[in-house]
Amino acid sequence: MTRDAVLARQAKRVLRGNDAGAFTKPGPYQYPHQWNWDSALIALGLSHFDLPRALAEIQALLSGQWRDGMLPHVVYHTTASDYFPNPAFWQIEGSPQAPAVPTSGITQPPLLTSVVRMIHARTPVAGFVRQVYGSLLAWHRWLHTARDADGTGLVCLIHPWESGTDDSPRWLQAMAAITPTDVPAYSRGDTRHVAAVERPFETDYDRFVYLIDVFRRLRYEPQALLARSPFLVQDVLFNSILYRADEDLRALGLELGEPVNEITGWLEQQRSHFDARFWDAPAGLYFDYDVRAASPIIVSTATTFLPLYAGLPNASQARRLVEDHLENPDEYAPGEAVRYRLTTTSLREPAWDGRRYWRGPVWIILNWLVADGLRFYGYDNLAEALARDSLALMTSAGFREYYDPRDGAGLGSTEFSWSAALALEFREYV
Ligand code: GLC
Repeated sequence: MTRDAVLARQAKRVLRGNDAGAFTKPGPYQYPHQWNWDSALIALGLSHFDLPRALAEIQALLSGQWRDGMLPHVVYHTTASDYFPNPAFWQIEGSPQAPAVPTSGITQPPLLTSVVRMIHARTPVAGFVRQVYGSLLAWHRWLHTARDADGTGLVCLIHPWESGTDDSPRWLQAMAAITPTDVPAYSRGDTRHVAAVERPFETDYDRFVYLIDVFRRLRYEPQALLARSPFLVQDVLFNSILYRADEDLRALGLELGEPVNEITGWLEQQRSHFDARFWDAPAGLYFDYDVRAASPIIVSTATTFLPLYAGLPNASQARRLVEDHLENPDEYAPGEAVRYRLTTTSLREPAWDGRRYWRGPVWIILNWLVADGLRFYGYDNLAEALARDSLALMTSAGFREYYDPRDGAGLGSTEFSWSAALALEFREYV
């Protein structure tokens, strides 16, 4: 059996091993509940060898949808765990929109619709698409209304966890501007299973918890959150994923014979504001925007390459992203400083840290999203290089949550589900 075939067999074993019945855990110890964008990728992985289980994964996630369409970042199908925040901490029953299932009160990057379309393109599941279309549309509509603070169609995040890149240095300034008062008593669960040097700093955690306390006091009322959340940003990664997901939703809608004018409108609106808000022409990079501070967030991280995944840059923007930055060994490319693609944060950023969470390590999800974008723009060799590095890391260090880009050491959770799922996807690249 080839090395890749062995890896694929191990990947399936990890996905099976993390199967908790109703849903699949992102990691066996650190993450015992169902996470939103993890689940989308897990479903994609499962679809390679167990389509009914893949579709059940998606249904389970949708069972946590709020009445107004919000799809939460965590669904707690089972309550007993040492994970913090636990369901009781969120106090979602304060909102009339909360579902019957316990969930968190914030959302996560909307990968799900794109995954549904990918699965459907490989093995048509028209009946399933018809079943879930209304829920997907409701989530997108919620994002474009409840989270549109300025009529641009660009969506705002109210918590770093909504970005999926929890302690990214992109959030440092906005987080520093927050003074947490009366932080409720809490005890971190994350450092019980993973070394503290690989996890967010204590000061960040206090602010993560403080924000949740603000939201629950506002009973998760969307207008109040937009008006009062101390953290309010427009994020390039989230908005790129949403743009692509809107395109996929539109394609599914057309196939089902549904009216799609509303979705076409969202796409036009986003296209007409994306560059003005995010593109920094002198730097040749996309930067997030801090709505509260009314200023761009001038921090270079790998999420600057996500518009490639959305197909939004023109050819010259794409060339600048790739030639000036992705291929620059002082920023992202392998060279003297790092051996493996793709470090999450530019090597030039003072906050760069090769072992700490989203501050520098390689994350397989970002490698996959960026590789997909590179392929779309014809940079097939670079996409393949990302795939090869990802497969090499997983082969040598196992399916870890993230990896040190210098020596390839595996970090964070072991038996990590989306790394396993994406190992199956990356096989198609090499
Ligand atoms: C961490 C990651 C987030 C992921 C979750 C579960 O919070 O930052 O992106 O969804 O773990 O794996």
